Amino acid sequence: HLVASLEVEQSYIMIKPDGVQRGLVGEIISRFEKKGFKLTGLKLFQCPQELAEEHYKDLQSKPFFPKLIQYITSGPVVCMAWEGVGVVASARKLIGATNPLQAEPGTIRGDLAVQTGRNVIHGSDSPENGKREIGNLCCIL
Ligand code: PPS
Repeated sequence: HLVASLEVEQSYIMIKPDGVQRGLVGEIISRFEKKGFKLTGLKLFQCPQELAEEHYKDLQSKPFFPKLIQYITSGPVVCMAWEGVGVVASARKLIGATNPLQAEPGTIRGDLAVQTGRNVIHGSDSPENGKREIGNLCCIL
């Protein structure tokens, strides 16, 4: 579990293809803005297979890995960098549990999704991964 941090950090937040297709981009950006974080990077991006595999490389051995890659490359995603004190852990709270049926009401997944394989949004799980993921996906404009 992530401990609240007093450091200014960056989190890589990605609205997945289902979130873009369903028109949830504005709603999601609005939640991060209202919370008080700063948007420092944004682009709409069709993620190529190799980059998706690099982004999720820690999950290579999972049985759902091929499906996850297929899902993420199935349409454009919105890649964002969000900055602020404790943004990595806070973003995970705003996003909610991986399985949307277990995510609390009030969270993005709790309010807007049903299936783990269509869970609308990704957020970095550590400040280190935040930097890595922003470097991989957000800043290759
Ligand atoms: S694990 O097994 O603990 O590493 O999984 P978890 O940390 O909960 O999730 C890691 C990412 O894998 C995605 N995931 C899945 N995608 C598709 N199908 C299934 N069954 C599935 N299970 C987990 C999950 O959404 C996480 O992706 P991100 O993009 O980080 O949310």
